Amino acid sequence: MAAGRITKLQGLVGLVTGGGSGLGRASAERLAREGCKVVVCDLPASKGNEVAKSIGDDKCIFVPTDVTNTEQVLAALSSAKEQFGRLDIAVNCAGIGIAHRTYNFNKETPHSLDDFMKVLTVNTVGTFNVIRLAAGLMGKNEPNVDGQRGVIVNTASVAAYDGQIGQVAYSASKGAIVGMTLPIARDFAKQGIRVCTIAPGLFDTPLLAGLPEKVRNFLSSTIPFPSRLGLPDEYGHLVQMIVENPLLNGEVIRLDGALRMQP
Ligand SMILES: NC(=O)c1ccc[n+]([C@@H]2O[C@H](COP(=O)([O-])OP(=O)(O)OC[C@H]3O[C@@H](n4cnc5c(N)ncnc54)[C@H](O)[C@@H]3O)[C@@H](O)[C@H]2O)c1
Repeated sequence: MAAGRITKLQGLVGLVTGGGSGLGRASAERLAREGCKVVVCDLPASKGNEVAKSIGDDKCIFVPTDVTNTEQVLAALSSAKEQFGRLDIAVNCAGIGIAHRTYNFNKETPHSLDDFMKVLTVNTVGTFNVIRLAAGLMGKNEPNVDGQRGVIVNTASVAAYDGQIGQVAYSASKGAIVGMTLPIARDFAKQGIRVCTIAPGLFDTPLLAGLPEKVRNFLSSTIPFPSRLGLPDEYGHLVQMIVENPLLNGEVIRLDGALRMQP
């Protein structure tokens, strides 16, 4: 990491999961704009390659990666080392969601256990997999004056706190990311690796772009101020602020315009 207490992004190396779309893409673009080299990790069928190309071959590479697959995450980390020399920042944005009630009393069917486990596997286990493996590479960095070697940013959701009807699997997966933030920050304290989590509200990503204008307007109206969907670059901005500010650690930050989801 660069010498000095405020971490400047210029010259650092970041890895962004889910970097082929939405919040991950915006984070990758923001890091690159601020002078980082970036490894975009996403599924092979994603737009990861397109994103890397648009950022520029010299600054960004795409490594097809399923975050739940240990070999593939290790391969992405090896690419970071081979292409850019090390790893300073890991941003976990890969995630999926589903909508099912715990028990559907009309159809007399319980929530599928496979679906529940799939969401927890991608969102929670995938995030943890990247954290535990990325830390090994970050731990090899020369520490700055504070002893800092790296920064990890995870993505939860306001659904971790105000989960809506049908969001049991998603909320559980995001609540677990909230829950792991402090203990991992404590686990890594001696090595100088900070860990923070962002809990986004409603953002204008491909996830919501498919909704009818009426629904998007309704969702926007539920956000106190500013009463609009968040811009993906506003998420990227918070990633940058977390990396830059050395005192942010073990914390979950809501980024939601004071939104509190109703049932
Ligand atoms: N958009 C929002 O309003 C919002 C709100 C709260 C939280 N979030 C969270 O932010 C994150 C990003 O959301 P988004 O809106 O940008 O979604 P998105 O669907 O646009 O992007 C998610 C990306 O993750 C990738 N992905 C899915 N499974 C993966 C896997 N196993 N391995 C690697 N990559 C995988 C997808 O291919 C996709 O490119 C997610 O974790 C989501 O839960 C989003």
